[in-house]
Amino acid sequence: MNRFAPTKAAGTRTVDEVTGSRRLRRMRKAAWSRRLVQENHLTVDDLIWPIFLVDGENVREPIAAMPGVFRFSVDVAVREVERAAKLGIPAIATFPNVDLSLRDVTGSLILDPDNLTNRATRAIKEAVPEIGVITDAALDPFTSHGHDGVLRNGIIVNDETVEQVAAGAVLQAAAGADIIAPSDMMDGRIGVIRSALDDNGFQDVAIMSYATKFDSAFYGPYRDAIGTAGLLKGDKKTYYINAANSAEALRETEQDILEGTDMVMVKPGMPYLDIIRLLKDTFALPTFAYQVSGEYSMIMAAAANGWIDGERAMMESLLAFKRAGADGILTYFAPSVAEKLKG
Ligand code: PBG
Repeated sequence: MNRFAPTKAAGTRTVDEVTGSRRLRRMRKAAWSRRLVQENHLTVDDLIWPIFLVDGENVREPIAAMPGVFRFSVDVAVREVERAAKLGIPAIATFPNVDLSLRDVTGSLILDPDNLTNRATRAIKEAVPEIGVITDAALDPFTSHGHDGVLRNGIIVNDETVEQVAAGAVLQAAAGADIIAPSDMMDGRIGVIRSALDDNGFQDVAIMSYATKFDSAFYGPYRDAIGTAGLLKGDKKTYYINAANSAEALRETEQDILEGTDMVMVKPGMPYLDIIRLLKDTFALPTFAYQVSGEYSMIMAAAANGWIDGERAMMESLLAFKRAGADGILTYFAPSVAEKLKG
């Protein structure tokens, strides 16, 4: 029994008069018709799994700010990547957390053919040759100050950084990396890395540029994961893109393409869906989104508090990247998503 009887709406037009016979809910009425008209799909082929590495054996270290994510020693990483391959995940991306004693002002550890990244690549490619290995070509895991470049008199020097990262990229390729992912936003890095790879016989090694990497608060948990959080002084505003700028993101991407990148990436992901769409529509290159640590941790934290349905939020956030035009997504959720898609 209604306490208030419906009265005629204040307006003069009925719904029929407003929509005619058009009813958008018609195709939403049943599961079968919703499936039939679904425009975008997330599949296991869309997933790239970023993993963290640490020295030692049989290590599986939880990362406080990223519940469900661990740092793996190389032997454990190999087993985890085997699992990922079985789930059908096409590629992984590695990020090392090296001992503080090995870090220096210039990040020279990137020049060690046997550094943690390269040892992991060799072991993974030997055990699981069918999975793609993407290595991070940047100095920040190796510098004592957590910046992505050589630091001189308070300035991140561009050209010296690029030379060093390019030399490191060649070592990564020699260890078996399939894709080099330069993530430092130095000018000219793509072209210099491309020529270094080609000159050393690695014409088949691809480049996925972090074409648009924004200066972002969402990297917080990652810096905990690779141990740069306590080291970093100042910010990365002199090399990452201002979050307010999309025309600049377009020019950055154009430059990376001119220099020879095979793929482009947008990072972070969800706050930058407009940039993904812009790049895909403008350049039609393979375009990837990086759902970064902060995005992952926000979903996990809200889910842990019972504020959102974590699994639904995970799937929805990833589908949004497909809708925005992404060909694939780097996501810490990759194994969970692959399992869910399988089940
Ligand atoms: C830096 C780098 C960052 C991430 C990966 N490599 C950003 C940063 O620390 O400034 C972030 C990844 C994430 O947040 O998941 N080369």
